[in-house]
Amino acid sequence: MASTNKAPLQTRNLPWVEKYRPQKLDDLISHKDILSTIQRFISEDKLPHLLFYGPPGTGKTTTILACARQLYKDREFNSMVLELNASDDRGIDVVRGPVLSFASTRTIFKKGFKLVILDEADAMTQDAQNALRRVIEKYTENTRFCLICNYLSKIIPALQSRCTRFRFGPLSPDQMIPRLEHVVQQESLDITPDGMKAIVTLASGDMRRSLNILQSTSMAYEKVTEDTVYTCTGHPLRSDIANILDWSLNKDFTTLFIHLVKPPVLFLKTLKGLALHDILTEVHLLIHRVDFPPAIRIGLLIKLADIEHRLASGTDEKIQLSSMVAAFQAVRDLVVSEAS
Ligand SMILES: Nc1ncnc2c1ncn2[C@@H]1O[C@H](COP(=O)(O)OP(=O)(O)OP(=O)(O)O)[C@@H](O)[C@H]1O
Ligand SMILES: [Mg+2]
Repeated sequence: MASTNKAPLQTRNLPWVEKYRPQKLDDLISHKDILSTIQRFISEDKLPHLLFYGPPGTGKTTTILACARQLYKDREFNSMVLELNASDDRGIDVVRGPVLSFASTRTIFKKGFKLVILDEADAMTQDAQNALRRVIEKYTENTRFCLICNYLSKIIPALQSRCTRFRFGPLSPDQMIPRLEHVVQQESLDITPDGMKAIVTLASGDMRRSLNILQSTSMAYEKVTEDTVYTCTGHPLRSDIANILDWSLNKDFTTLFIHLVKPPVLFLKTLKGLALHDILTEVHLLIHRVDFPPAIRIGLLIKLADIEHRLASGTDEKIQLSSMVAAFQAVRDLVVSEAS
């Protein structure tokens, strides 16, 4: 049930997130302050219990695996490291069983502590977390724990206070782009600067997502461009959204309705499989870039948020689309009446 990361990676058929998972702490591209603190803990042999938290794909699992690789030689790995993740059972039995027996047994061949990695610890039940409090305390001399989670609030305060916390924030585009370029070079891909920008925008700080988008787009299309990235991920193209906004603000209601509700969006929706929710998200982003008078922008944003709320509760997409059309029309009327 416990899975340990031991074998040298067979890189040929691996998804790129694994193929390009940094093996050493120095290879990680972000959170340098956290990494240097951990390096210092390791070199001074004072590693505390750790708690890593933050959004997905920011390097939490990678960091602790790299630490473990630095702490233990390959052949010791299995006996010194216990890694549990979401695929393992997370109830109290696991804490009382495998975790306890691993933590409580000393190794005669090697001095120093063992490492228990509890990945996705927010999936552990309250009972299991409570049981862990005692285990952590009792075997501190022998074992260090590293808890990893996305939501800190799901870890009970008593466990939080036993660990040194590190927050792994989303990665910035400046950090992601050089890493993606490295992969592009290794895989000899054809990518445009716009394509790269689109990947980074869609990934919003999640390195795993950016690698997955890069891999799927480059497999589906010969060239990675803005359009192929958006098409591959099922997002509306920028040009479609710009068109929608353009029609919405410049055409009268009847033409607009025919343009949006009848052929083109139906065309967008059926041919490109777009959901109104995605269209709404992109339109919302674009609205921030159009030079509206503040009061009008505010009114529009509130209306779009209302539509989004209604959509989320499962209302009819076509009616909500009409409502979006009407919201824009109201803006257009306001702008026209203010100008005259
Ligand atoms: N800081 C980073 N430097 C380089 N690559 C990274 C970094 N963070 C993530 N990656 C890439 O993204 C993949 C996923 O990272 P990782 O498994 O460490 O994420 P995580 O923070 O544990 O996410 P989750 O919360 O979803 O488990 C890695 O295999 C690696 O390829
Ligand atoms: Mg992880």
